[in-house]
Amino acid sequence: MKAVVITSPGGPEVLQLQEVEDPQLKDDEVLIKVHATALNRADTLQRRGLYPPPPGASPYLGLECSGTVESVGKNVSRWNVGNQVCALLTGGGYAEKVAVPAGQVLPVPPGVSLTEAAGLPEVACTVWSTIFMTSHLASGESLLVHGGSSGIGTFAIQIAKYWGARVFVTAGSEEKLAFCKNLGTDVCINYKTEDFVARVKEETEGKGVDVILDSIGASYFKKNLESLNYDGRLFVIGTMGGAVAELDFRSLLGKRQTVQAAGLRSRSPENKAVIVREVEEKVWPAIVAGKVKPVVYKSFPLSEAGEAHRLMESSNHIGKILLVP
Ligand SMILES: NC(=O)c1ccc[n+]([C@@H]2O[C@H](COP(=O)([O-])OP(=O)(O)OC[C@H]3O[C@@H](n4cnc5c(N)ncnc54)[C@H](OP(=O)(O)O)[C@@H]3O)[C@@H](O)[C@H]2O)c1
Repeated sequence: MKAVVITSPGGPEVLQLQEVEDPQLKDDEVLIKVHATALNRADTLQRRGLYPPPPGASPYLGLECSGTVESVGKNVSRWNVGNQVCALLTGGGYAEKVAVPAGQVLPVPPGVSLTEAAGLPEVACTVWSTIFMTSHLASGESLLVHGGSSGIGTFAIQIAKYWGARVFVTAGSEEKLAFCKNLGTDVCINYKTEDFVARVKEETEGKGVDVILDSIGASYFKKNLESLNYDGRLFVIGTMGGAVAELDFRSLLGKRQTVQAAGLRSRSPENKAVIVREVEEKVWPAIVAGKVKPVVYKSFPLSEAGEAHRLMESSNHIGKILLVP
């Protein structure tokens, strides 16, 4: 098969489509003929040699895909050859074929095209496993999402609105904020022209928000705690603004705040399967009902993966960037 290979750690130009060995199917896996895959910010780190695949994972990029089941391992009962599916991967999506544990496979939601479905598993599983399964965002509570126009952000806005939360976002341009507003965001904050802490306080009568989904990390840590309400929960999923910060425990003590962080990729297949099944039960109905829609900015052929990475690193996109073999 063909797959995008990282010829050496570096810039987008190191990505090359090459002929490689087909993946070997294990008994509890499904082999998918890839119809489309989607970029994630982590792919750009892996390309630069800063985010190596976990042991046993495919050496190729790609944390999600859609496609058609080509064969199934002997322990797999739910999926059959010919099923149209999408899947949460530990790697290997930038290829014509990928093998994935059956528990990480989802049906394509009716009403969503097979191409668009490629961009759903990573955002749905990340957002659901963090702010819902762990931070227990409830109807009537407020959520602040940093990077509202990101793949993660555009999904988080929609599913949080669907579950009845008041949604705040930060983003770096008025165009991105207008897009977030159209997705249902209640409070749009341009972090380049406004102090988000002051604006959050102003919009919440000085209380702060109940939950924050943060991909910035260290540079926002103190400001995030200042923006949180009593019993507030901060969930960190990225470190685009640095990884090491200082914590004054008195802030947590006084306001009974919780700080958590988690990555999806390093979880065990069993752990991922639990998340995937909850996503199918709790998130898929919102997509089928048309209340949560995939947000696709642009699709590239697999041979232009480098161009797609350039676009992601420019941060000019809104939502997901797809690759189609
Ligand atoms: N922990 C997990 O399991 C998990 C899973 C998936 C994703 N993530 C993380 O979630 C974040 C979003 O991922 P994504 O794939 O949705 O990203 P994405 O679509 O590439 O969007 C990232 C956006 O963040 C904003 N941003 C703010 N500060 C930035 C900075 N210092 N450097 C670069 N961008 C900055 C940019 O928009 P502005 O113009 O508004 O600045 C950019 O468009 C990433 O940090 C990613 O690693 C974590």
